[in-house]
Amino acid sequence: MAGGVLVASTNGRQYEGKVTMFVLVTCLVAAMGGLLFGYDLGITGGVTSMEPFLVKFFPGVYKQMKDESGHESQYCKFDNELLTLFTSSLYLAALIASFFASTTTRMLGRKASMFAGGLFFLIGALLNGFAVNIEMLIIGRLLLGFGVGYCNQSVPVYLSEMAPAKIRGALNMGFQMMITIGILGANIINYFTSNLESGWRISLGIGAVPAILLCIGSFFLGDTPNSMIERGQKEGAKKMLQKIRGIDNVDEEFQDLIDASEEAKKVEHPWKNITQLRYRPQLTFCSLIPFFQQLTGINVIMFYAPVLFKTLGFGNNASLMSAVITGGVNVLATFVSIFTVDKFGRKILFLEGGVQMFICQIIVGSMIAIKFGVSGEGSFTHIEANLLLFFICLYVSAFAWSWGPLGWLVPSEICSLEVRSAGQATNVAVNMLFTFFIAQVFLTMLCHLKFGLFFFFAGFVLIMTIFIVMFFPETNNVPIEEMNKVWKSHWFWTKFVPDGVVDQDHKAVA
Ligand code: BGC
Repeated sequence: MAGGVLVASTNGRQYEGKVTMFVLVTCLVAAMGGLLFGYDLGITGGVTSMEPFLVKFFPGVYKQMKDESGHESQYCKFDNELLTLFTSSLYLAALIASFFASTTTRMLGRKASMFAGGLFFLIGALLNGFAVNIEMLIIGRLLLGFGVGYCNQSVPVYLSEMAPAKIRGALNMGFQMMITIGILGANIINYFTSNLESGWRISLGIGAVPAILLCIGSFFLGDTPNSMIERGQKEGAKKMLQKIRGIDNVDEEFQDLIDASEEAKKVEHPWKNITQLRYRPQLTFCSLIPFFQQLTGINVIMFYAPVLFKTLGFGNNASLMSAVITGGVNVLATFVSIFTVDKFGRKILFLEGGVQMFICQIIVGSMIAIKFGVSGEGSFTHIEANLLLFFICLYVSAFAWSWGPLGWLVPSEICSLEVRSAGQATNVAVNMLFTFFIAQVFLTMLCHLKFGLFFFFAGFVLIMTIFIVMFFPETNNVPIEEMNKVWKSHWFWTKFVPDGVVDQDHKAVA
């Protein structure tokens, strides 16, 4: 047992309870889902730069890469649709699966979705690790994508329902932290397997280990009290609440859960709700935040760092080592947001991150432009390469304390109950769609836009930063039930919130 006794609810009321060991272990198992997502994000970049892997599955790319005849520009060395499909197919599958997952999560419970996710991950990792042809690779990736869809839909919900309110924000960010640890883990494993003949098999197959942990763990995990109430198991729900809070008297919180569930039952058409004019701010942010998050260009680094570094003339090991370095910076910088987000607020992080990313992208684009020009011929000296890596790290750190975690936190905290599920589903779907898009078109864009690609993303970072300045109201310290107050006092969004809604909220909270 650990932690204090009083726990604040989001409506300002205080519930009794402790942060129990049981809850921490439960959440750790659930967060395995984040780790697996991160692992899949990070693993392909290194694998697609391994020569034995290319020789076996993408001989065309291998030939193109080895072509020293000078016909091929550096920028286009890896441009191959099948190769990008290997990376991107996962996100398309995740997009589709997240819709099925929301039904499973609601009807069968959160742990059922997590178990399903773990199983998909397990089979996908095994198919990839033992792949003998491209079909096995792609089908494996699709199954991993189903795993991501199921886990990303259910794990954040599970975590926030299990967590006492006072550590809910930190646990939410814990999910992002696990994603970054997964990416780093993948980068490190690639570094060590890259010199082995069938190292790529280890890299792809080792994902089965956390998948087994997730399967076994979620089989034994308890479901959340909210989910049990939703499925008519009131008795069990109360016992579970007592267990996770570590006390007998949970009456007040339990009653609130029952009330919330009854409210939620009245919502027959969450999708119709969110399209109403009065929810325009929520719909806008749940769509634009994930869109902008992907248009920062972060996944160019996460997916293709080793390929990108190779393109820029880094050696094999140096490329993989550079990916380990950016992965490490990503993890460390995420801590910054965990410690500052509730103190300084979301807006300042968005703005600082945006400015820093913009400056870094302009510098990286210019360095590549000067060295490689339009022809794409050239390479960096040792010092220049280190300088480039330094600016890429600065860019990654800016993302990791701004758009990375906030991309998941903000959409989850701005929606009131009647639009929460639709808002969350929109967020996941848009995120996956544009993750797919970036993964699919990056190598082609690099081939055509050349160094201009970095200016392209810099342009988007500028637009999103201006968007935040003008349209984002600070949501820090505002209970979810009182969010309407925030929109109502904003110069632009005020016209969408009908008069009287804020008063209603106050009555509901009082
Ligand atoms: C994003 C991922 C990204 C990761 C990097 C997440 O918030 O959704 O697309 O790869 O951050 O840490």
